Amino acid sequence: MINNLNSKRTVTVIEGDGVGPEITSLTIDLMRASGAMFDVELAEAGEVAFTKGIAGGVPQDTLDSVSRNKVVLKGPLATPIGEGGKSANVTLRKTFEMFANIRPARELPGIPSPFSGRGIDLVIIRENVEDLYAGIEHMQTPNVAQCLKLISRVGSARIAEAAFAFALSQGRSSVVVATKANIMKLTEGLFKSEFERIAKGYPNIESSHILIDNCAHQLVMKPEDFDVIVTTNMNGDILSDLASGLVGGLGFSPSANLGYEVAMFEAVHGTAPDIAGKNKANPTAMILSGVMLLRHIEEFTAADKLEQALLLTLEDGIHTFDVPGTGAVGTLEFSEAIKLRLGSLSSYPTKTHSPLAMKKLWPEDVDVTPPSRSKDGLDVLIETNEEAQVVAQKIQAALRDDNFRLTMISNRGTRVWPGAPSNATQVDHYRCRFLATKKSRWSDETVSRLLAQIGGVYRWMHIEKLESYHDKPQYSKAQGED
Ligand code: NAI
Repeated sequence: MINNLNSKRTVTVIEGDGVGPEITSLTIDLMRASGAMFDVELAEAGEVAFTKGIAGGVPQDTLDSVSRNKVVLKGPLATPIGEGGKSANVTLRKTFEMFANIRPARELPGIPSPFSGRGIDLVIIRENVEDLYAGIEHMQTPNVAQCLKLISRVGSARIAEAAFAFALSQGRSSVVVATKANIMKLTEGLFKSEFERIAKGYPNIESSHILIDNCAHQLVMKPEDFDVIVTTNMNGDILSDLASGLVGGLGFSPSANLGYEVAMFEAVHGTAPDIAGKNKANPTAMILSGVMLLRHIEEFTAADKLEQALLLTLEDGIHTFDVPGTGAVGTLEFSEAIKLRLGSLSSYPTKTHSPLAMKKLWPEDVDVTPPSRSKDGLDVLIETNEEAQVVAQKIQAALRDDNFRLTMISNRGTRVWPGAPSNATQVDHYRCRFLATKKSRWSDETVSRLLAQIGGVYRWMHIEKLESYHDKPQYSKAQGED
């Protein structure tokens, strides 16, 4: 039972499934006991919504509560496996466009990990809307699937801005962008170049780039050297779990999901159905998420007090059963031990925090108009099991005008024509590149004619227009293409 205080601030609380209600209610209790002033509006999502037949897992009342209060503390939500409902987490994140996922990973006292004593204290900031997670997938042939990786200028600028604003709010001194821009020069490259542009507005914060694979390596070799890492959705998904592993696992990992209107705070772990209702859950991640929430609503004193009491409890050797060693207690006893220590300091200093001032960016603030654009040609993806030489001959024979010239065929990204037959394994999916013989002859009408001619010999399933901006090609070359 949560009593309200009629304070000016109300937080929507979704207790969630499995261990959610246990760890969420004690977190609210500790936040209040630390002196924070806020009221609570309980809202439902997850299992209870799915059993009522709400496909997105989030009832309208809950969406209304989140819209009204703009700050959410959320327990884990069960996602139905197989047919039926979608993830309630994804519904919430997408509805309120929470594009920034913030995952701190900090060494905690008394929590053993292979890196204990190294002083790890880093934050991974993951773009959380775009990239491969835009969910645009197709089976292009019965044997080849495609997932579109979409990276926008505004999405990249926003997350870079969020990373620098977050670093400033925590007094952190460096932000590194982790990408695969050496291979995906256009998508990951755009993310990197927007980061570099935004970095110029933060001259007092050190900024640099690291390739994502090297970043994973360095995170294991020298994790203490990292401060803030900002990265794309897929990279961040993997790196943030890696970072949790460095400091004791998901049970200790809090997170924040930030959008321009709504901020939602939650533990990274799931519903832990195997230990639900058994007074065994570790509430640390949830309490640390509550600390992040308190800082978000500028209850800095209460946040520091709760964080220090939690750190001191762990330093005193008190922890839940998931941590090896003596001193294990139940969830409630752990929470009581924290409460007893409110007002005392651990030997782990708390940073000075200031309000998060995230500059809002919209497409009109960042989008560019190239000084000139030209249409170079067309990539046409076709389905066939025939040899590349045969494909080239048949297509060339099918072209009945000279508006386009077949210049290259690739299979899985490697050029297979012109040139000697390739030894690489080939699949029923070719990309045929056509360049306009004269750029003036490129029009939707000539493209339609070309497609009709190709369609006479092969099934095509995808086209991509090839453009240059200011004479610079805006498309990648195939491996081996000149
Ligand atoms: P899980 O994180 O719930 O459990 C994995 C293992 O970690 C289990 O052995 C569990 O007992 C343990 N564990 C997790 N949290 C713990 C805690 N606080 N204290 C002690 N032990 C803990 O992951 P799983 O089993 O893959 O997922 C269960 C459900 O949770 C699924 O329906 C999944 O979709 C959902 N889920 C929800 C998330 C969210 O709402 N943000 C995140 C991850 C999973």
